Amino acid sequence: MITLEKFELEDIPRLIGWIPGADFLLQWSGPKYVFPLDEKQLTTSFELTQTEFPQHFMFKALLDGSTIGHIELMEVNYGKKSAVLGRVLIGPKQYRGQGWGKMMIARAMQFAFDELELEELRLGVFAFNKSAIRCYEQFGFKTYKKIPHPNNEEWTLLKMNLKQIDWKEANRIEEIEER
Ligand SMILES: CC(C)(COP(=O)(O)OP(=O)(O)OC[C@H]1O[C@@H](n2cnc3c(N)ncnc32)[C@H](O)[C@@H]1OP(=O)(O)O)[C@@H](O)C(=O)NCCC(=O)NCCS
Repeated sequence: MITLEKFELEDIPRLIGWIPGADFLLQWSGPKYVFPLDEKQLTTSFELTQTEFPQHFMFKALLDGSTIGHIELMEVNYGKKSAVLGRVLIGPKQYRGQGWGKMMIARAMQFAFDELELEELRLGVFAFNKSAIRCYEQFGFKTYKKIPHPNNEEWTLLKMNLKQIDWKEANRIEEIEER
């Protein structure tokens, strides 16, 4: 069972250790971080989470008490009731492909839609990242824009979004299937 807890400054070294190279950093976080990822860049993000009504949330994901993942909610706009889901990562490779990523994303969506009562989530994912796209599509995310890379189709950026109303619908369907 995956649970989310607030990411703290002491979690920074573990997260840095999960990012082996520049391409992986770009795949995981987009262009905002520069390789090598370091304490300074992560502290800058962390500081955004420390306000009364944060526009940014950072979570670590725990599996039976061990931290195996990371996920963020960014650009939270309380007026427009929207945010960007991102920096989704199951850190140790041996934990990928077992459903933990999907569960972690589900928890973050619960937080965004149920606790913050947001109405729309957006995200960006590169076209080659089939497992990530599969996770997002299973929750109902749909591509609304494609930003081509000048010379490598695989790095086409897919912009996806999901409305809370459609997420509720998808959840109900899942509940029915489980019965
Ligand atoms: C993306 C990521 C978080 C997904 O987590 P995960 O635990 O590996 O994923 P899950 O096991 O929960 O689900 C993966 C889904 O993709 C599917 N999948 C895996 N490889 C696939 C492929 N090549 N083509 C299509 N589907 C694929 C799996 O079958 C599964 O779908 P299913 O539930 O229908 O069987 C994880 O792989 C990761 O950390 N990747 C590196 C960082 C990254 O790219 N982050 C995303 C940035 S947008």
